[in-house]
Amino acid sequence: MKIIVTRIVPDRGLNILREAFGEESITVTQQDGPIPRAELLKIVAGIDALLPMLTERIDDELLDAAGPQLKIVANNAVGYDNIDVAAAKRHGVIVTNTPGVLTETTADFAWTLMMAAARRVGEGERFLRAGKWTCWGPMQLLGMDIHGATLGIFGMGRIGQAMARRALGFGMKVIYTDTFRMAVGAEKALSLTYVDKETLLRESDFISCHCPLTPETRHAFSTAEFAKMKPTSVFVNTSRGPVVDEAALAGALKSGKIFAAGIDVFEQEPKVHPALLECENAVLIPHLASASVETRSRMAAIAAQNIVACLRGEVPPNVVQG
Ligand code: DGY
Repeated sequence: MKIIVTRIVPDRGLNILREAFGEESITVTQQDGPIPRAELLKIVAGIDALLPMLTERIDDELLDAAGPQLKIVANNAVGYDNIDVAAAKRHGVIVTNTPGVLTETTADFAWTLMMAAARRVGEGERFLRAGKWTCWGPMQLLGMDIHGATLGIFGMGRIGQAMARRALGFGMKVIYTDTFRMAVGAEKALSLTYVDKETLLRESDFISCHCPLTPETRHAFSTAEFAKMKPTSVFVNTSRGPVVDEAALAGALKSGKIFAAGIDVFEQEPKVHPALLECENAVLIPHLASASVETRSRMAAIAAQNIVACLRGEVPPNVVQG
């Protein structure tokens, strides 16, 4: 078997592949960053399985370069907008992802961003480290309260629900919008209220994005949306960068249309819109929401298990339907 893993991932994942197929079957492209496209196109020729990161574009060109031997692309992420699933289908290649294991860790982090942005943690730390803190001040760096506020969740999948569960502990009212409404019993269990997008924008004190990137969600938050939000509101995105129009977000932050933002994902990673970098009221993080030791190990393990199952002729546990 020939298996390529495009980046060094935690050993838990690599060991599963080593045990199943032997060390000699696995090539880990030992790169700090994404493997250059031309190199990837060269080395995939004749492989049986590919374990890529969300930084690799998997499309017709790559699938052609790999050839008919390729059976599975096991993405090391729950999101799979880097993969042309229709193209994979045409090539007879199975696509899998890593759902479930990063739900709680990502919700933890969305919460971290929400609190950091609302309570101006980044600004406060920069202020202190710059030696500007000369004494306690009753008007210093005042932020927004989280407890008792209204949280609007955009996209109520696994991570959205994990976010909502945390909100219960803070005595928040939780409203949500999605293309599908949850069953009434499930809504009740989490004290959720289903609303349309307009209501979500108008009534939320906090909005947290948890939708996949699709043609419908691309730039779901742009100038018009930010204009409808409360000037005291905080916007959080841990989903995918292109869900948000970064230039519009920077405009809204600068003009005071919204109070603050906590952003983990960007339109053109690793580039960040220069106007956003100028916003003191934005907490900007380099796509780390799932980055805990345990969760990244589990993600690699799941991706590896998907490959093992597929190459043994079984249906892998996490096949993406596209
Ligand atoms: C994912 O899995 O889709 C995250 O963005 C990276 O963990």
